[in-house]
Amino acid sequence: MEPYFIPFSTGARGCLGRNISYLEQMVVLATIVHRYEFALPSPEFQLIRQEDFDLLVGELPLKIWRRELSVDTVQP
Ligand code: HEM
Repeated sequence: MEPYFIPFSTGARGCLGRNISYLEQMVVLATIVHRYEFALPSPEFQLIRQEDFDLLVGELPLKIWRRELSVDTVQP
């Protein structure tokens, strides 16, 4: 159902903040990946996706921990 997922709508009255939102999403994602490490239970782990009226995702058991920041990556 991915082609029908149009979160910002479309056409002349589509979302004006779409590109701001993409930028914000990128900053949030980059910040999270920069600050934390992630590990799945095993390299073979498969995420269950069930397409329904909405997209349902199964459990995602993640281990998340803070990265050690070295002195030269810390902003003043
Ligand atoms: C994940 C974030 C966002 C989602 C999913 C979203 C989604 C939408 C949707 C579905 C509409 C309705 C479009 C329609 O009526 O067909 C809309 C309209 C609008 N959005 Fe967003 N939006 C988001 C973020 C933003 C941001 C950050 C801004 C402004 C900085 C913004 C500004 C607007 C404006 C001004 C409209 C009205 C456009 C019009 O009626 O001509 N949106 N948005």
